[in-house]
Amino acid sequence: MKKVLMIAATSAFLVSGLAATEAMAGAEKKCKACHNFSDKNKVGPGLKGIFGRAAGKHDGFRYGKSLAKADWTWDEDHLRAWICNSKKAIKEYTGNKKAKSKMPPQKVCDKAKQDELIAFLKTL
Ligand code: HEC
Repeated sequence: MKKVLMIAATSAFLVSGLAATEAMAGAEKKCKACHNFSDKNKVGPGLKGIFGRAAGKHDGFRYGKSLAKADWTWDEDHLRAWICNSKKAIKEYTGNKKAKSKMPPQKVCDKAKQDELIAFLKTL
């Protein structure tokens, strides 16, 4: 009995390990070029806890003018538009046609890919 449990536990571990590796091969690979998935800032602000975080407020990061004045929270809808086309999204969110983002559009516009990426961001 003990042995069976051990095997069950081991395979559950292997499966979750695999899932995590698979996820890392997805769209978040793109983000890593500029973002840490921790508190630490890089080219872009650290993304730890980004889901539900107030936009443009991460400690020690020098945001562009538009994002520095942001008044929204990163929920699903905001993230979807942002990872598809940040240049367009920033104009929408601020209501300012001249608003700019220092982050280039990432073109993650496919719903399934967005789902996967947002699920990953929620774990940070
Ligand atoms: C080429 C570099 C680059 C890449 C690649 C990139 N980002 Fe960014 N990101 C930035 C920069 C720079 C900012 C700050 C923008 C500003 O201040 O206008 C930013 C800001 C953000 C913000 C807002 C953070 C906050 O604190 O409000 C989120 C969310 C975000 N990025 C998510 C992502 C995700 C998810 C990916 C991967 C699909 C990604 N980024 C890929 C450079 C990048």
